[in-house]
Amino acid sequence: MNDLTLLCVHGYPLDRRMWGPLSERLGRDGRLRVAAPDLRGRGSSRHPATGLHAMSLFANDLATDLPALVPGGAPFVLCGLSMGGYVAFEFLRRHGAGLRSRIKGLVLCDTKAAADDAAGRAKRKDAIEAIRRSGIGAAFEAMAPKLLSPSSKGAPAEALVRDMILSTPAETAMADLAGLALRSDAFDVLGGFDRPVLVVCGEDDAITPVADSEAMVAACPNAPFVRLFTVPDAGHMAPLERPDGVAEAIRDLVKRI
Ligand code: MLT
Repeated sequence: MNDLTLLCVHGYPLDRRMWGPLSERLGRDGRLRVAAPDLRGRGSSRHPATGLHAMSLFANDLATDLPALVPGGAPFVLCGLSMGGYVAFEFLRRHGAGLRSRIKGLVLCDTKAAADDAAGRAKRKDAIEAIRRSGIGAAFEAMAPKLLSPSSKGAPAEALVRDMILSTPAETAMADLAGLALRSDAFDVLGGFDRPVLVVCGEDDAITPVADSEAMVAACPNAPFVRLFTVPDAGHMAPLERPDGVAEAIRDLVKRI
């Protein structure tokens, strides 16, 4: 019987397919069901792209869709990768108190709690302009070399990443970038979280390096259990690149719930 859902939120500029291999591994032992929506403006989402995808907008979409994603008021563990982690923080900030009895844990993959600094915001602006000029191929050129570990070269993950990026509408990617630049720092959310937390980071993550994960772990003094799992031979897409190891770490977290 599936009695717990892992609600997985994808990163930028990706979609729900990034969770496929992890979901397949977790589905094998039956206790954990995976729900992985597409965020606004792509794939199967019923929410259209708007000019600015604030993390709070994505979080509100998730709350609106929660009855379909996790039916029957059932418990769930919130899980996000990179931008999906920022959405998870905003979801907890806005909806966490009302869902306190249902949110049983948190899995943060290749993400960080800090907001963009001025240089980071300027880079987002340049990235938006590059996509406006050249289309979604500009996002592919910018992101693809940084997403995966050198160990994943030629693996199925590489083709999937390419397909996910190139099937993201340019207007969606630009709106995501605008929202990413405006997001706030989430250390306060972590400080108030009092359920088990798993932080996952590919050891070769070039976008949110392990130091960002260590900072999140240090920011969770009220969680009864916090583990940092540094994933060998993985980059920024650890759950996609090394689904077996990440599934094992999630099963271990679930035992503590
Ligand atoms: C992501 O993977 O979602 C993005 O790299 C996040 C970011 O750029 O901050």
